[in-house]
Amino acid sequence: MSAQGTLPGGVLPGKYRHIELEPPLGQPGCPRGCDRLLFSHREQRLVPETQGSAFPGTELKAELPLWILFEELDVLDEAALRGLFGKHRFSAVMHFAGLKAVGESVQQPLEYYKVNLTGTIRLLEAMNAHGVRNIVFSSSATVYGDPAYLPLDEKHPVGGCTNPYGKSKYFIEEMIRDLCKAEKGWNAVLLRYFNPIGAHESGDIGEDPQGIPNNLMPYVAQVAVGRREFLSVFGNDYDTVDGTGVRDYIHIVDLAKGHITALKKLKENCGCKIYNLGTGTGYSVLQMVKAMEKASGREIKYKIVARREGDVATCYADPGLAAQELGWKAAFGLNKMCEDLWRWQMQNPMGFSKN
Ligand SMILES: NC(=O)c1ccc[n+]([C@@H]2O[C@H](COP(=O)([O-])OP(=O)(O)OC[C@H]3O[C@@H](n4cnc5c(N)ncnc54)[C@H](O)[C@@H]3O)[C@@H](O)[C@H]2O)c1
Repeated sequence: MSAQGTLPGGVLPGKYRHIELEPPLGQPGCPRGCDRLLFSHREQRLVPETQGSAFPGTELKAELPLWILFEELDVLDEAALRGLFGKHRFSAVMHFAGLKAVGESVQQPLEYYKVNLTGTIRLLEAMNAHGVRNIVFSSSATVYGDPAYLPLDEKHPVGGCTNPYGKSKYFIEEMIRDLCKAEKGWNAVLLRYFNPIGAHESGDIGEDPQGIPNNLMPYVAQVAVGRREFLSVFGNDYDTVDGTGVRDYIHIVDLAKGHITALKKLKENCGCKIYNLGTGTGYSVLQMVKAMEKASGREIKYKIVARREGDVATCYADPGLAAQELGWKAAFGLNKMCEDLWRWQMQNPMGFSKN
């Protein structure tokens, strides 16, 4: 994605950064594989941010190979985006940046629309102005709303979202789709993530939520490590195997690898393509608790509480299209997801900033 890059690369999440997926000639490669670089949770460790953990940017430079350039900017800042695109020659962008807490989006819809929609429009404008017309976008299974059938394939109706976060993803998908139709030369891969969990197997990189975790597995891991007393399970009267909600959990490294295949797809001038990134298997909350008990060897206390508004009973992917067209398939199962998450949690019991 830079002048020397042999593969399209992208802009990583958050305070924008760019990478090359292959080192320039004569430079050593990424020691543990490029999945480390594409790891969305990595930046929470490495970069001081309003949304993530505070870690000095210098640490990022110390850990990454020298040929990786690092920039930090607000996606709403048009001048900064112009500056970035003026300074480097990208061949593709991976767009992860945005706000993503479902509950918060219900409380602060304008903030969510501003950051997610306006931020994306500014990015697309900057890309257009600089002739960069390849994008991979982090969309979400939330665009499907309440499933009309299962497993969810990409033909399932979208837009019936129950919260502004999901709607912002749906609107962005539509904007990118329209752009690809209207202007020749645009290619986009919209990746609908299911539920990414786990950590890099080194235990060095993992999700470090600030405050009370919004997602199930970081919360479960914090109970296992003794940071939280018990897990609240929202409802056990759904029509599922044990009454608790069922979701499609995907190892974060599988998700990262899905992005590499998406970048390769862009090179085929693919137009606008949409793929689910999931495993195709659903697990209930209580099955996840059991799996984490097995991985950690610890009891995880939980209490059943009332259902949470906006939750659906069951949601899992049909990942067949990604297998067929991207050659991508999730490799890791539930045990590996939990073992890797637990390793990270044990190495960072109070999160990165408290180590
Ligand atoms: N984690 C999930 O379960 C999940 C599921 C589906 C989709 N996604 C999407 O994947 C992407 C990455 O998610 P994540 O889990 O790593 O979340 P995250 O919160 O760790 O990453 C989002 C990043 O966007 C950055 N950001 C927010 N506003 C910004 C701005 N104005 N300018 C620049 N950067 C800004 C944040 O600082 C943060 O680093 C998001 O777009 C999210 O919606 C995540």
